[in-house]
Amino acid sequence: MDLPATADGWTAGRVDAIRDVTPTIREIAIALDRVPTCAPGSHLKVRVVADGRDDYRSYSVVGATPTGLRIAVKRQPDSRGGSAYMWTLSPGDGIAVAAPRCDFPLSHGAPHYLLLAGGVGITPMLAMAEQLARRGANLRMVYAARSDDEFAYREELTALLGERLALFAADRGEIVDIAAEIDRLPADGELYMCGPLGLMEAVRHAWEAAGRPRGNLRYETFGSSGSHPVRAFTVKVPRMNAEVLVRENESMLDALEAAGVEVVFECRRGECGLCAIRIVAADGPVDHRDVFLSARQHAENTQICACVSRVAGGSITIDPAYRGDDAFAFAGARA
Ligand code: FES
Repeated sequence: MDLPATADGWTAGRVDAIRDVTPTIREIAIALDRVPTCAPGSHLKVRVVADGRDDYRSYSVVGATPTGLRIAVKRQPDSRGGSAYMWTLSPGDGIAVAAPRCDFPLSHGAPHYLLLAGGVGITPMLAMAEQLARRGANLRMVYAARSDDEFAYREELTALLGERLALFAADRGEIVDIAAEIDRLPADGELYMCGPLGLMEAVRHAWEAAGRPRGNLRYETFGSSGSHPVRAFTVKVPRMNAEVLVRENESMLDALEAAGVEVVFECRRGECGLCAIRIVAADGPVDHRDVFLSARQHAENTQICACVSRVAGGSITIDPAYRGDDAFAFAGARA
């Protein structure tokens, strides 16, 4: 499979090696002409073919190789096509990538660090743990997974961290006591978290309840896990006299774009809020999957982040013209 780099900013790479690090997480090593410098917490934007269209997805960089970079991709049953495409790749296939970008940077010199990973959220944390261990930082890692065989990089992490690593497997009935973990982190410590939305919300609440400084909590999430099963729904756009069907395997953002409804976006992960659109009405439950809007804003149901959030069947009526600069007003109001 060849995917030549054609657009500005894309670089042609090649799949060098593939390794399943759990039954559902696959590591893909990509060989590049020049190996870019990559800080822990970086993402690599990768061109994919999703739902028959050229598109892109961003994946955490797990580490470097002598010839390139390693990323890891979780196979998502509800995938819009990105993870399914990545899982079709074989060694030797062409792959186009953009320069890595770091939106989840690790600080230098904090007195204590707690790294908290859930599921595939371990992928940015591995490089963080390696760098902190190299620096001799005070570090504890808490890693929760659905089952014992879903701990990716378990051997590497155990060798690196020893007793500073705590594993929690849900199928063994092990549950992370988030409040207790925050409690054992000294007051000047920093918490880095990457995992699903529910875990992140719990961490945010516990952090606030403990009275910790907001700036010492840094997180990244993946907004694929909602509160309702994925179902097709219809988006009505009265301003354009349009109705757009959002199928089960695509996002509302992708469907609107394909229908010619312009929506500003950036992260596609429910984090930046640029794709937030005003909801005029909804006749199905709105499944908010972003981490940009606050719990209060989710309950109010007046905006939806189109990149990750959905309606669990039925229809939603939106006013896309409300977008634009208003997104920056939301940022200041964020709880
Ligand atoms: S594009 Fe960033 S939240 Fe949707």
